[in-house]
Amino acid sequence: MNQSANVYPVKPEFAAKARITRERYEQDYAESVAQPEAFWGRVGHRLDWMRAPTQIKDVSYDLNHFRIHWYADGELNASVNCLDRHLANRGEKTALIFEPDSPDQPAQHITYRDLHARVCRLANALRGLGVVKGDRVTIYLPMIPEAVVAMLACARIGAIHSVVFGGFAANSIADRVADCGSKLIITADEGLRGGKKVPLKANVDAALKMPGTNSVETVLVVRHTGGAVDMQMPRDRWYDAVVDSQPAECVPERMNAEDPLFILYTSGSTGKPKGVLHTTGGYLVYASFTHEAVFDLQEDDVYWCTADVGWVTGHSYIVYGPLANGATSLVFEGVPNYPDYSRFWQVIDKHQVTIFYTAPTAIRALMREGEEPVQKTSRKSLRLLGSVGEPINPEAWRWYYDVVGEGRCPIVDTWWQTETGGILISPLAGAIDLKPGSATKPFFGVVPALVDASGQVLDGEAEGNLVLLDSWPGQMRTVYGDHQRFIDTYFRTYPGTYFTGDGCRRDADGYYWITGRVDDVINVSGHRIGTAEVESALVSHPKVAEAAVVGFPHDLKGQGIYAYVTLNAGEAASESLHKELIAHVRKEIGPIATPDHLQWAPGLPKTRSGKIMRRILRKIAENAPDQLGDTSTLADPSVVDSLVKERRVP
Ligand code: WT7
Repeated sequence: MNQSANVYPVKPEFAAKARITRERYEQDYAESVAQPEAFWGRVGHRLDWMRAPTQIKDVSYDLNHFRIHWYADGELNASVNCLDRHLANRGEKTALIFEPDSPDQPAQHITYRDLHARVCRLANALRGLGVVKGDRVTIYLPMIPEAVVAMLACARIGAIHSVVFGGFAANSIADRVADCGSKLIITADEGLRGGKKVPLKANVDAALKMPGTNSVETVLVVRHTGGAVDMQMPRDRWYDAVVDSQPAECVPERMNAEDPLFILYTSGSTGKPKGVLHTTGGYLVYASFTHEAVFDLQEDDVYWCTADVGWVTGHSYIVYGPLANGATSLVFEGVPNYPDYSRFWQVIDKHQVTIFYTAPTAIRALMREGEEPVQKTSRKSLRLLGSVGEPINPEAWRWYYDVVGEGRCPIVDTWWQTETGGILISPLAGAIDLKPGSATKPFFGVVPALVDASGQVLDGEAEGNLVLLDSWPGQMRTVYGDHQRFIDTYFRTYPGTYFTGDGCRRDADGYYWITGRVDDVINVSGHRIGTAEVESALVSHPKVAEAAVVGFPHDLKGQGIYAYVTLNAGEAASESLHKELIAHVRKEIGPIATPDHLQWAPGLPKTRSGKIMRRILRKIAENAPDQLGDTSTLADPSVVDSLVKERRVP
């Protein structure tokens, strides 16, 4: 294929007004990796510090001297950087546009001054309830302004927030609350998504009956839908009753740059989700700088990221990045297909959105509905599009570019992770030519490398495991409560590097193409699900003896979940048990972990030492039984034939 036909060169009209042009990227990138101290020292000035940092970078990935510190003697407060410092010049500027689930409900425009007051009131209320610096607060809210207010109120008083996605079930809330020992939970009566109610408070009630959760003293409940909930006094308090009467000023806590800002749980290849811990200074420098540079932020932009604040994308690119930059950030409560498939584009027209950032899974789902729902809207306000969460297939990329953006808007395909805090590989639309499906080039200060299985660094055009050779300020600092797990997970596989868990190809132009996870993590619609978590949910059912879970290619979700289940002796497989097990996983983890296919497995392919050979199960799930490879090391090779025969055909 003609390679140049697949290149979308930087548009001169975009470059003419862009913050970062080609020359600037090349020059600054070179400096950022050659002299990181000087570079990041300068970038650090973008924040308001209570005490300016003099120590910029202090990092060693050497396991004997392991440390990651950025701006270590600096002091600041994240909420001050997102609010107070804008009051003089942007006090009346809209900080948040809230677009409710139903288009019939009025949108809200919240100015920086209003948001500041709301954050201060909640911060005062939290202090009144005994929350102090370093305490953990769990936030389990729908996509409503209070979610942003809650995060910033925690930041104001130095409490560490742990946002739990509203789609998680009671068990998942309980695990996360127990792991970090939250003192307080902020939730709502109910959430609303696509016209359906989500029983948030009831889920919290169920979670707090589970072991390990008695650290929770208070549950603050936002009245959102007005639905009936059980209030257990004195534990449960209505948000408005506690918050509205508070003063609209609140003295912010002085935080060290390396003090924790938040914990966010994410799935790994083994065990329970890990509490990814981000700190205050480096994270905020990195989130705000990448937000400004990657989205080419201009003062009058209306910026919309469709993620949920329950994921890192929401943390960095709905809340902290945009607000630290004084931008207008749109918060959307709903879903792309409610009331119909035009909703995204209608919201864009309604609020004159200029920058739109969404996930490939949403694009594919909308693409399937054809062009009509898009064409009946204008979208003239758009000037830049973004993609995040999983590799975007070139077909979806082109539809996004041609149909949604009408060939006018560059697409930034941003690769990063919960662990990285911010975008690491992405085009800069004024500087880097685009190739559909490639995240293109590293951001400032980011040094990617590809290694083979033995850790050998590969040069030039190559495919291998993606590692990062140096640190960046937004890097996670630890796994909450388990520093050893942090080191073992990310720094032991390929010593001296940070291992991303992703496979990647580099082409002849030095462009990076992420190929997906190489560990036991499944990326379902841009959300990480650990195979081990789904397996342990299945095995927790009394009739299940053993389970093995793998990912398989899925047209809409990117990857789907395929479960193999062995029942206890004497238990009979049936359609009703099949349904029951799927419902069991939804109840244990949440709807996002619902298996797409569940196959009865009289036996699982194991080596003689008892290790399940997932490679084989993946190939069966992919419907590629001719690619099983060598099965001779299996304890009982005949189980494979029966699994192939019994495969659940979609
Ligand atoms: C994993 C991280 C980053 C916020 C959302 C997901 C995959 C993410 C891309 C992209 C290809 C991507 C990777 C990564 N991923 N963005 N643009 N192209 N793959 O955060 O839940 O921590 O998942 O998502 O596999 O490791 P996360």
